[in-house]
Amino acid sequence: MPGTRRLLVVASRNPHKVEEIRAILEGLPFQVASVTELGEFPEVVEDGKSFAENARKKAVQTMTWVRELVVADDSGLEVDALDGAPGVHSARFAAEPGMPSSDAANNAKLLRLMADVPPERRGAQFRCVIALAVPGGEVHFSEGICRGQIAYEPQGAHGFGYDPLFIVPELGMTFAQLGPEVKNRISHRARALAGLKQLLGQL
Ligand code: IMP
Repeated sequence: MPGTRRLLVVASRNPHKVEEIRAILEGLPFQVASVTELGEFPEVVEDGKSFAENARKKAVQTMTWVRELVVADDSGLEVDALDGAPGVHSARFAAEPGMPSSDAANNAKLLRLMADVPPERRGAQFRCVIALAVPGGEVHFSEGICRGQIAYEPQGAHGFGYDPLFIVPELGMTFAQLGPEVKNRISHRARALAGLKQLLGQL
């Protein structure tokens, strides 16, 4: 019954993320809305040293504005041979002063840094952390990790970001080759969202 559903605000301007969360929470008594539907708020600066710090900052800041339950996520790629880089800098890995980054530039930089790394040292993982801020102060977290390997060249046309370079070893294909249906079942984001669903079920 719509009248008894609690509002859950997603602190993201990305309509795909809002849709993904809406779909995964189907059946739970929450009405999912994007923060953009509630008003004009400034963008939260993601300057944290970890995914959790950024997710918490976005969720808590947005919660102080809207005074409702808020979820926020932060994610990125961590490459073993690069000591976890690009990590929280994934989106702007190849950015230079005055020059924004792009997926193509980020992937080219990653390939360059990994050029001499042998297959057995090309392990990597995508990590996603979701923060759930409850009005009143509590913040809960859910984390999802998906392990894989960095390819020697881009493969596949689906997805975004580092998808063409991220091989899922069990399937022998990159995220960009697998396509959204398979990716959205096994990805770091899918795993973190499953945890969020459990958290919300306990509220
Ligand atoms: P965000 O947390 O969704 O904004 O992601 C930050 C950055 O991490 C993106 O700009 C991508 O570079 C990278 N990233 C996060 N998730 C994925 C993914 O599923 N595939 C490819 N790249 C990703």
